[in-house]
Amino acid sequence: ENTQLKDIISHAKEYGFVFPSSEIYDGLQAVYDYGQNGVELKNNIKNLWWKCMTQLNQNVVGLDAAIFMHPDTWKASGHVDSFNDPMIDNKDSKKRYRADVLIEDKLDELKAILFEIKKKQDQIKDHIPDGPWTGETAIESIEKDINFLEDTLKIGSPEAFNNAFKQVDIFESGNGTANWTQVRQFNLMFSTQTGSVADESTTIYLRPETAQGIFVNFLNVQKTGRMKIPFGIAQIGKAFRNEIVARQFTFRMREFEQMEMQYFVRPGTEMEWYQKWKTIRMKWHQVMGIPTEKLRFHDHEKLAHYANAAVDIEFEFPFGFKEVEGIHSRTDFDLTQHQALSKKKQQYFDNDLNEEGKPYGNYVPYVIETSAGADRLFLMTLCNAFTEEEVTEGEGTKTRTYLKLHPTLAPVKAAVFPLVRKDGLPEKALEIFDDLKFDFNLIYEERDAIGKRYTRQDLIGTPFCIAVDYETLENNTVTVRDRDSREQKRMPINELRTYIGEAVSL
Ligand code: GAP
Repeated sequence: ENTQLKDIISHAKEYGFVFPSSEIYDGLQAVYDYGQNGVELKNNIKNLWWKCMTQLNQNVVGLDAAIFMHPDTWKASGHVDSFNDPMIDNKDSKKRYRADVLIEDKLDELKAILFEIKKKQDQIKDHIPDGPWTGETAIESIEKDINFLEDTLKIGSPEAFNNAFKQVDIFESGNGTANWTQVRQFNLMFSTQTGSVADESTTIYLRPETAQGIFVNFLNVQKTGRMKIPFGIAQIGKAFRNEIVARQFTFRMREFEQMEMQYFVRPGTEMEWYQKWKTIRMKWHQVMGIPTEKLRFHDHEKLAHYANAAVDIEFEFPFGFKEVEGIHSRTDFDLTQHQALSKKKQQYFDNDLNEEGKPYGNYVPYVIETSAGADRLFLMTLCNAFTEEEVTEGEGTKTRTYLKLHPTLAPVKAAVFPLVRKDGLPEKALEIFDDLKFDFNLIYEERDAIGKRYTRQDLIGTPFCIAVDYETLENNTVTVRDRDSREQKRMPINELRTYIGEAVSL
């Protein structure tokens, strides 16, 4: 893990954003707990998503389905048969790896070597005598390996991976030698049992995506809400995947939260809606304060079993551009599968008229899905906000660390400080605090020098600090310090609500 990510992870721990799960027992791999500031930030992200989906779209409504579902759900959705990752074990170290991740790592390594050789070649090309140069042979052989490994990833079968491990030396680089099992498929769903008597028990799964809760409720919502196509159902909730490699902090977890929306459309119009939702979702990330140049689309080369088009929105993390959200055109795959297995019709009656002037009639709708991970958006927001700046202090300079969070997302909107702990200043400050606390999440602090208190708020990304001083007692004004510019301005107390309110609304 690179140093910037390490700094962000320690910052998250030290300032109450993210803790390793059950840390006193040395933690549980790929499971994390959100602390007092983390839960606020994550809730703000989720609330903003929820509001943008449901409140701003008359035809998108919410749902909160259970984590446990009838086991047939996962047969119908294809997860029992195909929700697999290729896995390989090192028999010596007893460590388990994902075959595709080992190959991706090898590809990164080969590309880095190739880059270095080509750079050398540029530097020394004037000195190379005519005729073959050994570097060229190396370039050719590395390029051959790169193409081969990229093809292997595209095929993605255990056979292809086994073949690649035979032909390219993947294991020399820090992963140990020789003693490896064959690559085999590993299902990512967690399972458990229901029923109190073992004989009667049934295997059920912890949902690996929230989407299926939406599909099985499609007609319930459509009928009770009298929804007309196109319409959407949005849901936020936990999902579980037994990820083989868990890396990069909250990027890949075994228990995580998804924010998904299924948009039901008339067959044949799905590509139009796919494009529309692509644009809407990219804009959403930008409005949240993520710079355009740190976001990009990445089209899927290998489509999931349910999709006819799929794209990721990627963010530039300290470890490179990686997926934060997927937009998928899922066709009528899921509803058709559920219809077949449950023997319950999953059709919609469309009485709008087609080009021939007749109603479209009954059909199984097509679905465009937008699927974001709350924990990944949290990590994206944190990485984007983490700022280290050189500032002058007295004669010299020092590094100032703060979180440049969009005020809408900041865990605490403002801190209220009395300059000193006497002469009625704390009472006045608490009066302001009590008046504003119904509208904003605030902090009141009176301990330590005021400079220290400002620093503590910078570290958790509080956009405003309100200081009550002797002048406040005379004319009911306070100073408001801005986190980013560190500038202070005086303001009447009765303007605070509007001032903060405007800054924290989008
Ligand atoms: N319903 C479609 C679906 O689940 P996905 O691409 O597998 O698609 C969607 O997941 C999003 O869920 C991802 O873009 C990511 O943000 C989040 N996600 C998936 N696996 C995750 C994990 N192990 N840890 C954290 N977030 C994850």
